[in-house]
Amino acid sequence: MWLAKTKAELRSQLNTAPAPIILVPTMGALHPGHASLIDLAREKAGSSGTVLVSIFVNPIQFDRAEDLEKYPRPLEADLAICNDHGADGVFIPGSGEMYLPDRSITVTETSLSCHLCGASRPGHFDGVCTVVLKLFNLTRCDAAVFGEKDFQQLAIIRRMVRDLDLAVEIIPNPTIRETDGLAMSSRNARLTPEHRADAPRIHRALKTASSGKTPEQILSMAREILQESLTGKIDYLSLVNAETLTPAHNLSSPTILACAVFYGDVRLIDHIRF
Ligand code: PAJ
Repeated sequence: MWLAKTKAELRSQLNTAPAPIILVPTMGALHPGHASLIDLAREKAGSSGTVLVSIFVNPIQFDRAEDLEKYPRPLEADLAICNDHGADGVFIPGSGEMYLPDRSITVTETSLSCHLCGASRPGHFDGVCTVVLKLFNLTRCDAAVFGEKDFQQLAIIRRMVRDLDLAVEIIPNPTIRETDGLAMSSRNARLTPEHRADAPRIHRALKTASSGKTPEQILSMAREILQESLTGKIDYLSLVNAETLTPAHNLSSPTILACAVFYGDVRLIDHIRF
C-alpha cells in the first residue's frame, strides 16, 4: 500500500495506478463503518483496479473550532485498517497542501443544504463540497463511496455531481451500527461513559417513531424518547422529503426522519428512511 502526502506524490502514484480508481474520502479515525466503505470500493474496483482512501480533517467544514481541535487523529491505526481492507493507496495531505492562504473559490449548494445539519452548521456543506470536488480532481477517480449515515451529505454530493457534470459515479454504503444500535462515528470515542450509555436512545427513538401513522405522531413519538434523556439535547428532529429535504407534511412520498443530538459538545446524527 502506497502513501502520498503531497499532490505531487499523489500524481506520480496515479501515473501507474490501474483503472478504475475508486475513492473513499474520509477524515480518519477510521472505524468499521469506514472499513465497510473500503470493502465496497475493493469489490467495485475488482482485483485489478485501484482503491484509494483519503484521510484529511478538512478545516473548512468545521463550524466550531473546538470540534476541529478535538477531532481524533490516530494515523497509525488508520493506515492499518486501510491496509487490512485492501486499499492500494492512501492520500494524507496536510492542510497547507490543500488550501492556499489566499484561496477564494468555494462550492456552494443553495437548496438541500438549507435544512437539517446545514441549518445548524452554517458553511459546513460548502466546506464538504469544496474538498470533495478537489479530491475528485486530484485523484481523477472514476467512482467514490459515501456512507448513507450522512444522508444529507450524500444527497448534496449527488447534486454537485449532477449540476457540475462531474464524471464520478457515487456509490452509497449502508450505515454500520454498534450492537446496541448506535450509528458508528469517529465522534463516539469522545462520549463520556454516561453519554455513551444513553446514546443508543437516538436509534431507538427513530425506530419506535417509524410505527407512527402521521407526521405529527411520528415526530411526537421520537421527541418523547429523546427528551426523556437527562444528558442528550436535541439539536434538530425533522421529518423531511427524501428528495428535497424539505419538511414532509404527509407520508405519500419517500420520507426521512432525521435528528442531531448533543451530548456535551459531541454532536451525533442519525436518520431512518420510510
Ligand atoms: P467522515 O466523517 O470521516 O466519513 C467518511 C465516510 O464514512 C462518509 O461517507 C460517511 O458517511 C461514512 N461513514 C461514517 N460513519 C459511517 C457508518 N457508521 N456507517 C457507514 N458509513 C459511515 O464524511 C466525512 O468524513 C467528510 O465530510 C468527507 C466526505 C470526507 C469530506 O471531508
